[in-house]
Amino acid sequence: MHAHAFRVRMPCAIMAGRTYEILENPLIALADKISKSFGGNVLYADATLQLNAGERWALVGPNGAGKTTLLKIIMGEESADEGSVTFAKDTTLGYLEQESVLGKGKTALQEVVDSATEIRDLEQSIARMEEQIANCEDENELARLLERYGHAQDRFERLGGYELDARAKAILAGLGFPIADFQKPADEFSGGWQMRIALSKLLLRHPDLLLLDEPTNHLDLESVQWLEQFIASYDGAVLLVSHDRSFMDACVSHVASLENKRLYTYAGTYSSYLKQREDNLEQLRAKRAAQERDIAHMETFIEKFRYKPTKAKQVQERVKRVEKIRSELVVLPQAHQAMRFSFPKPPRTGDKVVELSKVSKSFGSNRVYQGLDLTFYRGDHIALVGPNGAGKSTLLKLIAGVLRPDRGSVEYGKSVTSAYYAQHQLEALNPANTVMGEMDAVAAGWTSSEERRLLGAFLFHGDDVLKRVSVLSGGERARLALAKMLVAPDPLLLLDEPTNHLDIDSVDVLENALKDFAGTIILISHDEHLVRAISNKIVDVRDHHAVIYDGDYDYYLYKRGELESREGDPTGTSARAPQNAAPVEPQRTQGRNVKTKEQRRAEAEARNAQSRALRATKRRLEEVEAALAPAQKRYQELMDLMATEELYNDSNAFDQAMREYASLSKKIPLLEEEWIELTEKMEEGA
Ligand SMILES: Nc1ncnc2c1ncn2[C@@H]1O[C@H](COP(=O)(O)OP(=O)(O)OP(=O)(O)O)[C@@H](O)[C@H]1O
Ligand SMILES: [Mg+2]
Repeated sequence: MHAHAFRVRMPCAIMAGRTYEILENPLIALADKISKSFGGNVLYADATLQLNAGERWALVGPNGAGKTTLLKIIMGEESADEGSVTFAKDTTLGYLEQESVLGKGKTALQEVVDSATEIRDLEQSIARMEEQIANCEDENELARLLERYGHAQDRFERLGGYELDARAKAILAGLGFPIADFQKPADEFSGGWQMRIALSKLLLRHPDLLLLDEPTNHLDLESVQWLEQFIASYDGAVLLVSHDRSFMDACVSHVASLENKRLYTYAGTYSSYLKQREDNLEQLRAKRAAQERDIAHMETFIEKFRYKPTKAKQVQERVKRVEKIRSELVVLPQAHQAMRFSFPKPPRTGDKVVELSKVSKSFGSNRVYQGLDLTFYRGDHIALVGPNGAGKSTLLKLIAGVLRPDRGSVEYGKSVTSAYYAQHQLEALNPANTVMGEMDAVAAGWTSSEERRLLGAFLFHGDDVLKRVSVLSGGERARLALAKMLVAPDPLLLLDEPTNHLDIDSVDVLENALKDFAGTIILISHDEHLVRAISNKIVDVRDHHAVIYDGDYDYYLYKRGELESREGDPTGTSARAPQNAAPVEPQRTQGRNVKTKEQRRAEAEARNAQSRALRATKRRLEEVEAALAPAQKRYQELMDLMATEELYNDSNAFDQAMREYASLSKKIPLLEEEWIELTEKMEEGA
């Protein structure tokens, strides 16, 4: 897609009149009042973002909000309609694009080491200075030279010039490259690994401002964890786009969020941002509810007395007040349109869907599988899990027929055809087509309104369907490719990391489509939530073996945990994922549920605590219900009372009623909210 994985350039503007060295948090870049639109579509107005050294910013927002575009504006690759981007003096920038491809020729290690051109240049100029210093006669000149020399050396050291090679190796290893692969030609790596090389180059260069667009898309869990640590201790400024919550929580210090065409900034982790946002939203909702209540109340009055000449003044007054409230009505952010769509059913197949017998597959000396036997049946929704490099993608490719086994066979059952979804699906879209045009190619016999409905279910609304593929954002492309796959689905879906690029709403769409899928699914995903939601069987791939766990993900975790504790392996208890587990001898038959005494005690305690909590919740729920019913009744009485004329003739009664009304309008929503919360708690606990 792009010729270079990243570009580094010197900044085009220099902040005038300030020295940043003396500040504790030196400013590195300032994007000031940026506005941007494409055609009539406004992405954002007045977006301001100040990036300081040592700050790690997450840039978040739904697919298509303009995150990639903002990074490009900061890089100077895309121009802003309004506003400016400025940098501190001598700032270096590094940018990892959402999709990137590598040049040809060098080994992986060379490619990485050679990318540190700045260090190389610095090295040369230091050598030149040394020569000049040795030959210098003039004392003033010498002092100047020495000072420059000192600066250059500091910078050389700061950029890690002395341990370039060692650092390059550490970074490659951190991102999951086996040492044997350091010397492999860079262009022989698969797309995902090329992206890691690009990332390694960037990290080695150590720019003052690091811009990363969805860096975790091609990384497995271990590499993600390594990258988290790398970023968390980065001394420059980092601005990264991500949809991965736990990744952001592990490494960001600030959040910039694109919502409703504005950029909001928060200090803190991603979770604390979510909480702040939720709190703000809560306040807005409460205010809006109060406004609506007031309007409804006054309108009742207006309705009642509209034609009573004696009340003309009060009616007028209320009409004005309603108008005023309406003009100040709190605008709540749009709730996302969760659209239900029943996806077409795939053709029915025989019981046995795929059978692998005695499959062996090696890459050079790397033996991935030997004599693998595995059978999948109709209706299986399988997740492939296991450590990095164990061969999950290879297994999927063997099943898809993208790779051929060295020995053995992969056979499909009766009427089985498969669709294979991986990164390449995005690249297979024709950039010149419109979204609708891409659909037409696969949706034979569909009317255009049916196509629009399917696209709508994949969150393409209105004019979106007329957009060209070439301008789609990463998430939009992924959604389109997935929609194409589900128009007339094959009975066997093979999915390798389908949630890459997708925002939360899009993952929900995918989840719903797959959950009800009547055919067979084999899925690789680092998104545990998706794995939990759709899989009814787990295949654990490690040590050249694949072991089937005939149950859902929690059953699998439980079984693995058991296996590992029996092996006495403490790392196996990691809650985050089984991938961390040290390899253990796979167990082919599931044994009895043998629990240790501690486990049993812990479980019993947890159960007790839960039932205590549940009882307390139940009690409170009863109290709330007891308070709520009379309050609601009284509220209704007051509403009726306020609609009668007498009330307005008796100022005491009127004041009394208004006071009561005001207090009830506060109390009822609180009670209602608590009631909902408690009921939810009860349901969860049940
Ligand atoms: N040249 C262009 N002409 C018209 N529309 C464009 C152009 N470039 C981008 N867009 C649109 O602008 C919006 C923002 O795109 P951008 O790639 O910045 O989104 P994003 O926030 O990075 O999304 P994602 O999370 O999917 O990567 C998208 O709806 C995209 O279709
Ligand atoms: Mg993007």
